[in-house]
Amino acid sequence: MPRQIKVSALSEFQSGATKLLSLAGIGLAVFNIDGRFYAIRNRCPHEGGPVASGPLKGTLITCPRHGWQFDLKTGQSTNRQSFSVKTYPVTVKDGAVYVELADGGCAVYVELADGG
Ligand code: FES
Repeated sequence: MPRQIKVSALSEFQSGATKLLSLAGIGLAVFNIDGRFYAIRNRCPHEGGPVASGPLKGTLITCPRHGWQFDLKTGQSTNRQSFSVKTYPVTVKDGAVYVELADGGCAVYVELADGG
């Protein structure tokens, strides 16, 4: 059963900011881009680089290690067509931002950093 994990109060998640989370050892990155929210696993499918720490242009993020680029909307790489990063649904309700995990198995929530 899907489980919603609170990322942040909406008022504390400004446009242009990124929140980095660790959920049961899995790193996630949640982005606010002009009021739209996107969540990805913060692990590059190439060699495991921290995708979310790379440069962001619109919804395109570039892995800082070797330059693979991903569209946050779909997770699909734009320069390595057969690769993608995992994406997660994000919802806003009752003044807070939530990420939805499909398996619902996470018991640990740790906010690691604010990215912007
Ligand atoms: S680890 Fe991301 S492009 Fe190589």
